[in-house]
Amino acid sequence: MTINTGTDILIIGSGAAGLTLALRAAKFAKVAVLSKGNLHEGATFYAQGGIAAVLDEKDSIESHTQDTLNAGVGLCDSRMVKYIVSRSAKVIEWLIDQGVPFTTIASVTKDNGETTNAGAELSSLHLTQEGGHSHRRIIHATDATGKAVFETLQRRAIEHPNISLIEGCTAVDLVTQESTNISEKICVGVYVLNQKTTKVELISAKFVALATGGASKTYLFTTNPDGASGDGIAMAWRAGCRVANMEFNQFHPTCLYHPHAKSFLISEALRGEGAKLELPDGTRFMETFDTRGDLAPRDIVARAIDHEMKRLGCDCVYLNISDQPRDFVMNNFPNIYNRCLEFGIDITRDRIPVVPAAHYTCGGIIINEYGKTDIKNLYAIGETSCSGLHGANRMASNSLLECFVVAFGAAQNISEKIANTKISESLPAWDESRVTGSDDEVLVSHNWDEIRRLMWDFVGIVRSTKRLKMAERRITVLREEIRDYYVKHKVTNDNLELRNLALVAELIINCALQRKESRGLHYTLDFPETLEEAKDNILNPSNKNQSKD
Ligand code: FAD
Ligand code: SIN
Repeated sequence: MTINTGTDILIIGSGAAGLTLALRAAKFAKVAVLSKGNLHEGATFYAQGGIAAVLDEKDSIESHTQDTLNAGVGLCDSRMVKYIVSRSAKVIEWLIDQGVPFTTIASVTKDNGETTNAGAELSSLHLTQEGGHSHRRIIHATDATGKAVFETLQRRAIEHPNISLIEGCTAVDLVTQESTNISEKICVGVYVLNQKTTKVELISAKFVALATGGASKTYLFTTNPDGASGDGIAMAWRAGCRVANMEFNQFHPTCLYHPHAKSFLISEALRGEGAKLELPDGTRFMETFDTRGDLAPRDIVARAIDHEMKRLGCDCVYLNISDQPRDFVMNNFPNIYNRCLEFGIDITRDRIPVVPAAHYTCGGIIINEYGKTDIKNLYAIGETSCSGLHGANRMASNSLLECFVVAFGAAQNISEKIANTKISESLPAWDESRVTGSDDEVLVSHNWDEIRRLMWDFVGIVRSTKRLKMAERRITVLREEIRDYYVKHKVTNDNLELRNLALVAELIINCALQRKESRGLHYTLDFPETLEEAKDNILNPSNKNQSKD
């Protein structure tokens, strides 16, 4: 398919959410999947620990549900939690059918290098452990689960005659129309920057799905790949969708601390398999913060590390798994072992220097269990959305699960409507009659850096009203500069991302300022208590005092 024709379903994003929807919907529709970079350049490819699912007979849906609710500190939608958790085994079966080579129990103890097994039985899968989970329930493909999932789904999608995969195309904005008989907005297509031709083209579609991932690139230090600039959240907001709970940006406690290691995660599964956090002098400290010690939920571990680093004035803390047998560590964590070795760290002997880094966007576009947004025929799935599963803090390995379950629901929902939905004709072409080529790219790179530092320093793990107000003042000025630049210049991938990043940063700051308590991932020195009543923070672009673009 060429980029400027219409399609039944246009999916923006080729991660777990986008590819799953594509494969499920290709049974009844023509599907196009866009990615602004290479297909693999989303968070999915880098996922390590695994996918949470209830497979063990001693485990239960109730227990997984309760753990998720506990981690979410009163803000999860319990109906949604149950809906997603109860579909976990079905999702894993489907992934096995697609050919994902998960790690089996037998392979964990083998030392012949065969660590994963395509086509394994559910009961033969190895379950690892992560923070907040009261059972072993993490299904994984050694320590590179995302790569195994992505490569399998990508292969399936390439083979499918109804799926077109298109790289190097950045969605700019959604095209919507007002419905004539009812006062309802309908999404009818997307403006897309074709990076090869540098032209913005219109793709019309019966249904559009945003599967654009998270926004952790708003922070200076992050585990996320470069494209995590919150584009889907920004596009949906500009089109009129509500977003919720943006203050809950999750910081992963253990990102490798090394001057040449860009954004490399050290999976929580290491702590699940016995690794301990230590101060520079070797003292263990997590037990003084939480009875669950090193396996407390992420918000607690990240805050504890931040506290200790500030108290001692040290650059990092250490993760130590050298107590475990060498073969066990190398078999279970080959990806982390090899990457650390490139930096001279042998994790079977040496401690790993780690720091917290921005990792996951718990808030996002408000959706229901089918991924439906406030706009008709517009869906949002995966990290860009806020389904109510995560509440104030996502539990480890629940996000991939959410991608699959909601993608299944979206495909089902679209299948029921597609026969009565038409592609809209005569939509307005992109107008660039009043813009010029960029003459000062340094404005883009400077503002990009400034936002990320501002967010790290003022809207980070520990917040205060004074710092948030400073961030608010500065982001208002930056947003104006960025808007001014945007309307005068031709769009590029960089200035599109900057525009989205700035908007999402503002939404995070607004939500953080509105929350007058500490809860889950949002901790503020001015309101250290958690209020009795848990309330979502819902922002609506049609409120006059919310700037829309
Ligand atoms: P992504 O996989 O991030 O994909 C986003 C896609 O959207 C990409 O294809 C991107 O190119 C595209 N895109 C974005 N904007 C545009 C645009 N404007 N135009 C066109 N395309 C666009 N979760 C777990 O459950 N278990 C784990 O073990 C785990 N480990 C993780 C490890 C790391 C290092 C990271 C960063 C995250 C991890 N997570 C894990 C979180 C999880 O990986 C993500 O939440 C999940 O993969 C998100 O999937 P997604 O499909 O929503 O988006
Ligand atoms: C990890 O492997 O620690 C990441 C798991 C997740 O983010 O869910």
